[in-house]
Amino acid sequence: METVVITGGSRGIGLALSQRFLALGYHVITSYRGTPSAAQMALADSSRLTLLELEVTNSDSVVQFAADVKTALAGRPLDILINNAGVIGPDAQAFDTVEAQAWLETLSVNTIAPLMVSRALLPLMTEAKRPRLVSISSQMSSLVGTGLGMYAYRSAKAALNKVMQVLSMEQAEHGIVVCPIDPGWVQTDMGGDAADITVDVCANGIAAVVEGLTMAQTGQFLTWEGSVRPW
Ligand SMILES: NC(=O)c1ccc[n+]([C@@H]2O[C@H](COP(=O)([O-])OP(=O)(O)OC[C@H]3O[C@@H](n4cnc5c(N)ncnc54)[C@H](OP(=O)(O)O)[C@@H]3O)[C@@H](O)[C@H]2O)c1
Repeated sequence: METVVITGGSRGIGLALSQRFLALGYHVITSYRGTPSAAQMALADSSRLTLLELEVTNSDSVVQFAADVKTALAGRPLDILINNAGVIGPDAQAFDTVEAQAWLETLSVNTIAPLMVSRALLPLMTEAKRPRLVSISSQMSSLVGTGLGMYAYRSAKAALNKVMQVLSMEQAEHGIVVCPIDPGWVQTDMGGDAADITVDVCANGIAAVVEGLTMAQTGQFLTWEGSVRPW
């Protein structure tokens, strides 16, 4: 049985990914802030689910989370890490309105935290047969995109992509596949009701991509359907 860690599992894509990987037979370790959501608690019937507290921007919380994950693994390696927790950032993100502090907080969650969580958990992955590490990015990061505004979110996800590309090169000698993944525009609290795809379609797609990842793909920016997305 393989184990997957999914950050930000209280709702949205992280919750749907937890459901999908449980259905696929994995041991799922997923996080909440404060207390687990009702939807997470509803998954807790499964003996293959572990719920752990994690605030991704708090270094003490990240250290404790890694220790708790190690305990939950009980000597087995961690096969998959999905850095999913993220925020859209402040309402005001236009050229005239974006403020530095709110922008920094967006970078903290979306760019810096995924590397800190990865650094804390990578030692648990080195013995896995096919270790895979993915971070949920966004099409709004794309350098060939033409969308305007949303400076905090776009820059945070574009920077996340670069962080993951560097990490992929550094981890290649250890055989760890590292990819940022664009989940599409998804019907969640963040994506809104008008989004293109349901959260289950998104999660099923990402799970299939993650299951099949090989070293040939490391360092690529992939879509939830598995194709290569231009940076
Ligand atoms: N929905 C879309 O269309 C879309 C498109 C592109 C990319 N994405 C990305 O996909 C990921 C998931 O998005 P979503 O739509 O599922 O968003 P969501 O419904 O807003 O859920 C966000 C999740 O991240 C958690 N989280 C946020 N900040 C955190 C922190 N500081 N520490 C720990 N957990 C934190 C939230 O926990 P709480 O419940 O405690 O707040 C929640 O579980 C994000 O990285 C997002 O940027 C989404």
